[in-house]
Amino acid sequence: MAKILCTGIATLDIINEVKCYPDEDDEIRILSQEKRRGGNATNTAVILSQLGHECFWAGTLVNEVDSQTILSDLKHYQINYDYCHFLDQGKIPTSYITLSQGSGSRTISHFRDLPEYTFETFKKINLHQFDWFHFEGRNVEETQKMMQWCRQQCPGTPISVEIEKPRDSIQELFELADTILFSKQYALSKSVTSAKDLCHLISSQYNDKSIVCAWGDTGAGASFKQGYHWQNALDIKAIDTLAAGDVFNAAIIDQQLKKYPLEKCLEFACQLAGKKCAQKGIGELFIK
Ligand code: FRU
Repeated sequence: MAKILCTGIATLDIINEVKCYPDEDDEIRILSQEKRRGGNATNTAVILSQLGHECFWAGTLVNEVDSQTILSDLKHYQINYDYCHFLDQGKIPTSYITLSQGSGSRTISHFRDLPEYTFETFKKINLHQFDWFHFEGRNVEETQKMMQWCRQQCPGTPISVEIEKPRDSIQELFELADTILFSKQYALSKSVTSAKDLCHLISSQYNDKSIVCAWGDTGAGASFKQGYHWQNALDIKAIDTLAAGDVFNAAIIDQQLKKYPLEKCLEFACQLAGKKCAQKGIGELFIK
């Protein structure tokens, strides 16, 4: 079991399940509605906790009623939030999600009115207790400072960063991580049309890092030094793809902590992400 610090966001997800995704200006019925805690960093922490690790979350919250949904879920999964910064004003970042029964796709409209976690707050954390640092690739300027600080304070502790969306200067975070977890969305934004091409592109500059790129329902690729591996996705009927990427990332971190070779890490991550897509939510993933 490792002690892991995940830095990033927690959200309130309001999930509307519909028969199929509507056209613009349609009027449709929602089949069911659910409120869950979401957010990439906390999702990843919840999976890592289910895998037996001791997880801490660093991020911002606000003193308002919707924080309760988040805190009670974090408590349920034994995620420590002592380093979280409580603000008096703002709104819990809220995602309005349309989940299509037909395809399992999730369309997210995200509302934010909350300051991001700052380096000033991060600096107060005792970093020496951790075995792994995971960052969400957002809030780039501050995240860059946090990652540099981790490198400086704990040079031997591995760092992973999730690069999901193309954001200004996000490439500044690459050199500060040991494991870079790219999304298909990011690859496509770079006009790259396969996981293999993305891995080649990045490894030409960062040859000594584990470069991982998930490719939706087809699978995922990863490279380290000269080696490249591809793993097919599970052949399942997707009913809920929300947070599949966060589950995939957690599985990679878990396997890297256990020092498995990259192809083994990919195999497990694709299995777990596939399993997640076949069920609603990310709870109790390891019971079935
Ligand atoms: C899934 C997720 C949701 C959240 C959204 C934020 O990966 O973390 O839980 O609403 O992405 O971008």
